[in-house]
Amino acid sequence: MEEKFQHLIERVKEVHGGETYVITTHGCQMNEHDSEKIKTLLNTMGFKEIDREEEADLAIINTCSVRHSAEDKVIGHIGRLKHIKKQNKDLKVAVCGCMMQRKESRDYVLNTFNHVDIVFGTNNIYRLPQLILESDDKKNAVVDIDESYTNFDNQIYSRTAGNAAYVNIVYGCNNFCTYCIVPYTRGREVSREPEDILDEIKNLVADGVNEVTLLGQNVNSYGKNLEEKITFAELLRMVHEVEGIERIHFTTSHPKDMSDDLIACYKDLPKLANYLHLPVQSGSNRVLKMMNRHYTREDYFTLIDKVRAVRPDISLSTDIMVGFPGETEEDFEDTLDLVKRVKYDNAFTFIYSRREGTRADKMENQVPKDVKDARFQRLLDAVYTIQREKYEALHGTVQEVLFESVSKNDPTKMSGRTAGFKLVHAPYDADSIGKMVPVKITGGNTFSLEGEIVHGKQ
Ligand code: SAH
Ligand code: SF4
Ligand code: F3S
Repeated sequence: MEEKFQHLIERVKEVHGGETYVITTHGCQMNEHDSEKIKTLLNTMGFKEIDREEEADLAIINTCSVRHSAEDKVIGHIGRLKHIKKQNKDLKVAVCGCMMQRKESRDYVLNTFNHVDIVFGTNNIYRLPQLILESDDKKNAVVDIDESYTNFDNQIYSRTAGNAAYVNIVYGCNNFCTYCIVPYTRGREVSREPEDILDEIKNLVADGVNEVTLLGQNVNSYGKNLEEKITFAELLRMVHEVEGIERIHFTTSHPKDMSDDLIACYKDLPKLANYLHLPVQSGSNRVLKMMNRHYTREDYFTLIDKVRAVRPDISLSTDIMVGFPGETEEDFEDTLDLVKRVKYDNAFTFIYSRREGTRADKMENQVPKDVKDARFQRLLDAVYTIQREKYEALHGTVQEVLFESVSKNDPTKMSGRTAGFKLVHAPYDADSIGKMVPVKITGGNTFSLEGEIVHGKQ
């Protein structure tokens, strides 16, 4: 760690050591991992995480802008904190994440709420110690936003407990899909040096990690802006060599950049999870073109065929949107048809939401809400019917499950994932946490499976 930074951390520790915080995370894995970085920083400075904002010294909201509903949730939460702060007067309120990267949303928050003390963005999390100190002496909000990313991930490796960890490999996005706000919040694409990624992974292994998820908005374009060119497939092969890593995931890959070399990794690399998340967004070529996705449904089917040729039992997941401007009934039926042909194990479905500043927001023929809602319901029905069949097909089989933790809803059970990333619950067994264990699947459908450990096979 740089000396200057270390010094700042010590200073905050002197002033705030022993204080408590609550962090709330909205949005995608990128934000989840950013929150892990914030937690690691705060823990290093002597803060302690708790559950109740009513009793905390610091409340942090890590925000998401991807859909209108995500922003609404954040605004509601900040509003509630105003009342909590009336009772808990010393509470510091910090708002960070994608919403704060956008001037319009940031100004709205700052102009509407005067109980916000600190605002920072996705590119300068490492400035938090400085910002906490500055806000001690200031009545108004301390605001600090950077347009471009400053790499700080090599200074503090961040993760929370457990055997699984996220590792950033690409920051930002250059794709400008016409509906999407992310390129405006996270900025331009920057790849991280392979040596730094491998160092972090080795460090995580030494700390008990055996499963990593490599993160980027478009991992397939990894390496393009590095001085020494390297592809994502080459990086995967290097990560596969790291001793102690048992399972590798990545997210998200864009169909337009999915190379044969990457598909070959599914053949050559046994530690690569039996899972691919490949967002299709729409099954209509007309809509895909308007979305600026740079592939056709035929290209997408070809990719799926190639992947299934090397891993016939691979689990496939996707993101799909209904109600993009100009989407007709025929376009939507193309999406339904694609879903039925690909047969996803899992699909994240969304109703198109207008985002100010994006190209799609200016398009004519916005689809009326009732039409979007009806299509969404039909899509969900199709997705869940297939998903249930996929899950039920595993009943009676034995799956290698990597158990992660005690189950969220039932403390007598633990939860883990199959190589195909399906959630499995089994009776709690302390020795199996963090390990890959054979499990006989006995039940469950659509969202999770039930199982029992097969003893005597380990
Ligand atoms: N980089 C990733 C994920 C980006 S956001 C990718 O390209 O797949 C996650 C998902 O949110 C997207 O895949 C898309 O399906 C959905 N999404 C993005 N913008 C949206 C919008 N304006 N309205 C509704 N859903 C949206
Ligand atoms: Fe958004 Fe498209 Fe970038 Fe994904 S690839 S983050 S959908 S612009
Ligand atoms: Fe993720 Fe939401 Fe930002 S989806 S990248 S947290 S806008």
